[in-house]
Amino acid sequence: MLLRCPPLATSLSLRALASSPVAHRSSRSPSILLYRMASTSVWGLKDAGLIKTQGYIDGKWVDARSGETVLVTNPATEEELGTVPEMGLEETQAAIAAADRAFKSWGKTTAKYRHDILKHLYALMQEHHDDLGKIITLENGKTLAEGKGENTYSASFVEWYAEEAVRTYGEHIPSPFPNIRNLVIKQPVGYCGSSILTPWNFPSAMITRKLGAALAAGCTTIIKPSPETPFSALAIAELARRAGVPDGVINVVTTQRNVDAVGRELCQNKIVKKMSFTGSTPVAKLLYGLASSTLKKVSIEAGGNAPFIVFDDADVEKAVEGVIACKFRSSGQTCVCANRIYVQSSVYADFASKLSEKVAAFRVGNGLDEATTHGPLIHEKAIDKVKRHIDDAVSRGAQVLVGGQRVPGVGSFFSPTVLSDVPLDAAINTEETFGPVAALIKFKTEEEVITLANDTDVGLAGYFFSRDVGRVWRVAEALEVGMVGANTGLISHATIPFGGVKESGLGREGGHGIEEYLNQKLIAFGSI
Ligand code: SIN
Repeated sequence: MLLRCPPLATSLSLRALASSPVAHRSSRSPSILLYRMASTSVWGLKDAGLIKTQGYIDGKWVDARSGETVLVTNPATEEELGTVPEMGLEETQAAIAAADRAFKSWGKTTAKYRHDILKHLYALMQEHHDDLGKIITLENGKTLAEGKGENTYSASFVEWYAEEAVRTYGEHIPSPFPNIRNLVIKQPVGYCGSSILTPWNFPSAMITRKLGAALAAGCTTIIKPSPETPFSALAIAELARRAGVPDGVINVVTTQRNVDAVGRELCQNKIVKKMSFTGSTPVAKLLYGLASSTLKKVSIEAGGNAPFIVFDDADVEKAVEGVIACKFRSSGQTCVCANRIYVQSSVYADFASKLSEKVAAFRVGNGLDEATTHGPLIHEKAIDKVKRHIDDAVSRGAQVLVGGQRVPGVGSFFSPTVLSDVPLDAAINTEETFGPVAALIKFKTEEEVITLANDTDVGLAGYFFSRDVGRVWRVAEALEVGMVGANTGLISHATIPFGGVKESGLGREGGHGIEEYLNQKLIAFGSI
């Protein structure tokens, strides 16, 4: 199926809770009680061994003790892809016990040993690039180019952290006393592992961004993937097994209905010393509260509401390209997607017309079709939110320049949309849309737009286009976000410190993110 977007002006989560380990119920993958194998014909992979339909605990592929399963479907075709086990508290505790046992030897391996295993995993992810990209596309819906791109991104975290493992240097601190020498060494956090709770929008990269760091640091892990997209996590576990990661070092607990019990256990169990979560701010707050009962180390990448500012001195063509890359990546389902697009009055009409022309040319369809530029949204709940934001903006005076409607028929498709003259009291200004809607807002001065951009509780990413060097510095420094794209709409890479300020999270992933999985220990040598 290939659907062209409606022409100009003819019609037009909570990823959030959708990815939550505690509060989520998916609308597209109801749990069922039957055990069903993934149909290999649906997948058409070169290596069918990458499709795993069981959880992974202590080096064994296992079903849920109850026998219950979670059904996973393709959002583009609504076809059943297969099932994974509906695990619960018992399986989570078994995974924690396995990770605890495995830590006793994994935590003592050399950094070079862990480097070599991670490099092997990186090589396997490259070797299976086509299959891994296809798994992402089938379960998430993004285009095959994006699916493969995500695999490249995902593998780059494994490579990066392999190289970070061998650089976890300590330091010598000069003592004020002549007979004392102070040495600081770094050790994996606590004496067990880390729990990794990930969303559906990057089923692979959001795992390796955490897993790579944890393994490199010497931690053992329990992964709770999103119920919409568990197959990428399981394929990574299989490749890690092939790469030589020992039993119990990686465990994968799949669940949908028991997400509350599993999430609580991962956050509250004393043995688990670290919790890392990517998802919505409300769920992040819930998990942070739970993890506080044992003062676990916590990394959180929560929601965003990114401003994207186009100043009158910008290169408008480049700003249009930037906003397309930023706003419509993964059909608008990333936490760093532009959510509010502020355009200075004198370039507003030009920008709106150039952007609308490009968006009207997008081709929405099944991600496996080569001509598709944009895939479906993850499920009906996501469509409902997009629709609600559009209806709300229009009821307050916004105009639909392109798109604006659900695409009828099979699959959760929504036509990429450009809204003009979005008023400041529209819901889209305060809530992350997580969908393909570019909301244009006119502004007059730099001071005014900085105030508008910062008028939100979250602060993950922010973008702006300007050719004035002084303004570039001023605006980059003034935006209350963890990451700024100045004259670019794409900022993500394994080498950068990815993370937010305000209610967008705690800690950084990528860059020096291995530190989040390490504790510093002082050894003071006396009697010298
Ligand atoms: C996310 O949407 O959570 C991550 C996006 C990215 O890594 O660029």
